[in-house]
Amino acid sequence: MKKGFKVISFLFVAFFVVAFLAACNSSSTGGSSKGVSVGIVLPTKDEPRWVQDEQRFKDALADSEYTTEILFSQGSSAKEKENVETLLNKGIDVLIISPHDGEAAGAAVEAAKKDGVTVIAYDRLITNTDAVDYYVTFDSVAVGAAQAQYLVDNTNGSGVPLYLYAGAASDNNAFLFFEGAWSVLQPKIADGTFKIANSSEATALQDKSELTRDEMSKILGQVTTNWDPNEAINKAQTHLTAAGAEMKGDVAILAPNDGTSRSIADTFAADSEISSYIITGQDAEKASIQYIIDGKQSMTVFKDVRTLVKDAMGMAVEILDGKTPETTGTYDNGEIEVKAKQTDVIVVDQANVKEELIDSEYYEASEFTGL
Ligand code: BGC
Repeated sequence: MKKGFKVISFLFVAFFVVAFLAACNSSSTGGSSKGVSVGIVLPTKDEPRWVQDEQRFKDALADSEYTTEILFSQGSSAKEKENVETLLNKGIDVLIISPHDGEAAGAAVEAAKKDGVTVIAYDRLITNTDAVDYYVTFDSVAVGAAQAQYLVDNTNGSGVPLYLYAGAASDNNAFLFFEGAWSVLQPKIADGTFKIANSSEATALQDKSELTRDEMSKILGQVTTNWDPNEAINKAQTHLTAAGAEMKGDVAILAPNDGTSRSIADTFAADSEISSYIITGQDAEKASIQYIIDGKQSMTVFKDVRTLVKDAMGMAVEILDGKTPETTGTYDNGEIEVKAKQTDVIVVDQANVKEELIDSEYYEASEFTGL
């Protein structure tokens, strides 16, 4: 089944690449150099995840004369709005944007819509506005569920101390990841397999199989990393200092992404009362692939950015051609149902790291040691 899916995705991707290159040629032969056609705005250069997206966009655009421009918002909604305005002034028809703050980005995309620009939210949804046309994303609920399932499958016995960490509350994905994780962890907390070590809010809610957004906000308020590795270290240190001996030993850690996972892992590894830990991640960042090879991070969720880039650019080309892009579902952004195209994710650990990331030519073997 997986193989079939891969063939279909390959054909799908190949189709868009051809369509995309065709559109590139036609727009350049028209000779109407009216500036930039597709503007791309990414949240920050400070995390390898987004630098990777930039590179994958550049790779996808390398052989074309298609006019695109990529700008980074550096974790600032004001800078993000400025970036959108810069691109609007360059005459873009399509905006592909991954917001720093999903709600605050509403103002920027509303300005784009006023200009007649089609808005594609990329990886992160823009919330509480009707000014977003499409959403290209990974299955983020599945990311959280896969992380949690890994903890369930790789811990033994009962009463395993469980440390919960989450992403930034300004990022809608942080809720989707947590929702997915909670759906798998909650029954295992209820049956005594895990005991929550670091969140009184989560403990208070541990009998609820589904949490409202407000309830998740309360938990995130205690365990957010804000997607910041340094904040993750500080939180982990505080939690370990507060934890009694019964919350040490062999532990499980839900870490939301690779950047925070490495720093939380290092913090736990440095505590002499922690005998072993299983820790999650996501993004398949190079540094985390090395950590997995070295046995310092247990798993990551591989989100093939090449697919996301091709889907987003494929959509942009269809829009420029006056066609309606194909979508596979919708996401409620609090104001409207946004038409979405969703991509699957792959769990990677020591057992399949070579097959999924090297054999698939995502990375080169020479980038790692001890493979
Ligand atoms: C993305 C993750 C990323 C995180 C921090 C999320 O919205 O989906 O891939 O690790 O933001 O940048």
